[in-house]
Amino acid sequence: MSTVRSASAVAPSNIALVKYWGKRDLELNLPATGSISVTLDTLLTHTTIAFDTALDTDEVTLNGEPAGTAGARVARFLDLVRDLYGVREHARVETRNDFPTGAGLASSASGFAALAVACDAALELGLSTEQLSVLARRGSGSAARSLIGGFAEMHAGSADDGTDAYAVPLAPAEALPLRVLVAVTTREAKAVGSTEGMRLTEATSPFYGAWVDATREDLDALRAALRDGDLATVGQVAEGNCLRMHATMLGAEPGLLYWNAATVDVMHAVRALRAEGIGAWFTIDAGPQVKVLCEAEDEPHVRARLDTLAGVTAVLAAGPGPGARVVEASA
Ligand code: PMV
Repeated sequence: MSTVRSASAVAPSNIALVKYWGKRDLELNLPATGSISVTLDTLLTHTTIAFDTALDTDEVTLNGEPAGTAGARVARFLDLVRDLYGVREHARVETRNDFPTGAGLASSASGFAALAVACDAALELGLSTEQLSVLARRGSGSAARSLIGGFAEMHAGSADDGTDAYAVPLAPAEALPLRVLVAVTTREAKAVGSTEGMRLTEATSPFYGAWVDATREDLDALRAALRDGDLATVGQVAEGNCLRMHATMLGAEPGLLYWNAATVDVMHAVRALRAEGIGAWFTIDAGPQVKVLCEAEDEPHVRARLDTLAGVTAVLAAGPGPGARVVEASA
């Protein structure tokens, strides 16, 4: 007779407004700088895990298919969980994203946050939110932030063991009337993953040191803007920080170019909206999609403009929302 311990969790993506691009420790996945993000109320990962004494290997499915390389990454994360908490069983993991996977839409953030929460519940580990954030970070740096609802700040920390590198709440979801419109420009997976992209940038971009310094200033500016409920400054800091991150990546050898033609079209469209007096700002992660930040009342106008762009294949809408949580296990 096999023994099964199972649980289900759901976790949202988050979009960094001041971004993380660079690590101070590769093994523990420690970021070189802090970051600030908004956790979304849509773009969710649903994960069910079953630790089963009858299994002799981990079995991972992503969107109903065997998970391939992503599955190997999940298995490495489960090795870590087994190692840290003295667990022997392998697990069956069923995970489903309700948005395109691997194309700069933070699927690793929601994915590892959901996995950390599901492991904690299935194994009854009783981890605190900070401990869950530390654990999720080992899977993906940005995942540490999806534990927190609303606006979250990830601390870079200074401890060698990474125990102080976790995310904390900065402001509740209601702090800003913010909407995020994701302009999808391709559904293809990105060519260079974030770990490899960061390694290349740190090793070869002459702009990397300046990026780290500028990020620290952006963190201060964004914290203050959030405290004041000042959406225009939040947008301005986020757009500038995004452009500095991409400038730093472009300065790597070979330069990391995550944009396609439609990415650039959206950036110009957002600037044109601003010139017309509409508060809209863009931010872009390690992929070709553009996340447009705007005030709730301007959403229909901004969406209508994005819909006119030929290279935009879909527009997904989100607002600030709650962090990762356990859900009733599906049968
Ligand atoms: O957590 P990772 O390894 O997927 O890296 C995230 C990198 C960015 O999305 C570009 C920035 C961020 O802070 O989310």
